[in-house]
Amino acid sequence: MARMFALLAFALPAAAPLGLIAAAPSSSAAPAPPATSDSTTELNVLHWWTSASERAAADHVAARMSELGLRWVDGAVAGGGGGPAIKVLNERTLRGMAPKVAQLNGQATIEWAEMGLLLELDGVAKRRQWARTMFPQVMAQLNVREHVVAAPLGIHRINNLYLNKAVFRRLNIELPTHWSGLQSAALALRAAGVTPVAFSDEPWQVATVFETLLLAEAGPALYRRMVEQRDPQAFNDPSVERAFQRLRDWRNLAAGPGERPWTQLVADFAAGRAAMLIMGDWARGELGTLGLEGGRDFACQAVPGTSGVHQFSIDTLAMLAGNYSAQAEQEKMAELLGSATLQLGYNRIKGSVPVRRDVPVDELDYCAQQSYQLFANPATARVPSLVHRMAFDEVGKNAFIETVHRFALDPKQTPAAAQRKLQGLLRALGPKSMKSVQATP
Ligand code: BGC
Repeated sequence: MARMFALLAFALPAAAPLGLIAAAPSSSAAPAPPATSDSTTELNVLHWWTSASERAAADHVAARMSELGLRWVDGAVAGGGGGPAIKVLNERTLRGMAPKVAQLNGQATIEWAEMGLLLELDGVAKRRQWARTMFPQVMAQLNVREHVVAAPLGIHRINNLYLNKAVFRRLNIELPTHWSGLQSAALALRAAGVTPVAFSDEPWQVATVFETLLLAEAGPALYRRMVEQRDPQAFNDPSVERAFQRLRDWRNLAAGPGERPWTQLVADFAAGRAAMLIMGDWARGELGTLGLEGGRDFACQAVPGTSGVHQFSIDTLAMLAGNYSAQAEQEKMAELLGSATLQLGYNRIKGSVPVRRDVPVDELDYCAQQSYQLFANPATARVPSLVHRMAFDEVGKNAFIETVHRFALDPKQTPAAAQRKLQGLLRALGPKSMKSVQATP
C-alpha cells in the first residue's frame, strides 16, 4: 500500500540534502553531527525531545544505533507536546525534504499511513515477534489496515499527580490523596509561602491537565465514549462542567498566569518553589536528570479520582518511505527500537515504560513499576490520551486544546459555557470515521 502511494503521489527525494536538514528549525536541538561520506547509514530523525531527559533518552538511542553502524542525524524541533514538530514535518514533506524517521504518535501515525507515506514494518514485526512480545494496546496503535506502520518506543502515563515530599515534610502537611485533602494542603502551603501548584498556560499543557480532570470526573467508561467514540451525547454529562470547574480551581492555585515550558514547571517543583504538579510522566524523566527519585523525593500518585486507571500515550517513530533508498537502515533501526535492552535503557531515562511484556520489571524505578504493572494488568482500564494523539486526529485534537485553553484564559467564561462550546465542537467534528477507530483492547 505505502509503496504505491508514495511512488505515485509523493515521490520524495532519496535523502534530503544535508544543508537543508541543518536549516530546518531545531531551536534547542543539539547541533547535527557533520556529514560522513557514507550517507546510506544516516537517518535523519525529526522529533520534539529537547529537554535534558528527552535529549539524554534520544542520545541513548543514537549511541545504540552507532553500534550498529547507523547514524542518528538530529532534527529536533523544540516545543512540548509536539505541535511545532508536526508543523515542520508537514512543511518538509510538502517541500520534498521529508526526514527518514519521524516521531508520529497514535492518530497522527494513522493519518500519515493512510496517505501512503510510511514504510510498512511487517517484516521487522514478524522477525522480532512483536505481536507476541509487545502489549496488545501497543500493537493496536501500530497497526493500520493490517500493516505495522511504526516502531514503538515507550508508554507514557498522563494522569499523574506529583507531590514534592520535602516540602510537605518540612511544613508538616500530610500528603493528600483526595481533592478535599489537596485543597486544605494548598491552603497550608500558601500560608507558608509556597506556591501550591506548578501550572502553565501553554495550550497543550492546560489541555493535558484538563483531560486528566475529565477522566477523574467522568470515569473511564464515559471518558471512552467521549474521546474514543467521540459521542457528542457523552459531552452532555455534568461531569464535563465539573472538570472545567476543577481546571479553574487548579489553575487558581498556581503562581500566576503565564505560558511557561513544562521544563520550568518541573524545575520549580524540583526546587520546592511549587509543591504539586499534574503532568505526563516525561516530567518524572526530567526530575530524574535533576537528581530526584520517585518514591523517595516525590510521590507519584494518580490524579484523584483516577487511581487504577492508566491514561496512556505511546511514543512511536515512523519510517518515511520516500523512494525506499533507506529501507534497510530504517528496518534495522526499527528492530533496535523494539529490542528489550533498548527498551529498558531508553525508558529508564525518558520516564515512560517499556512497550514489551517481557522486561524485568524490577529494573525499573518505583514509579515506573507502578505504571508498568498497571498497564500490564488486563483488568486495568487503559484509556487513551486525547491531547497526546491517541484518540483524535491532529485537527480535532488542536480544536479541543484551543477550546479548553480559551476557557482557562477567560475568567468570564463559565464552566457551563465551556461545556457547550465543547459539545458544539464535537458536533462539528462529526463522528469518528471508521478507518481511524482504534478500539482499546
Ligand atoms: C510526548 C513525550 C514528550 C512530551 C513533552 C508528549 O506528547 O509523547 O514523548 O516528552 O510530549 O514534550
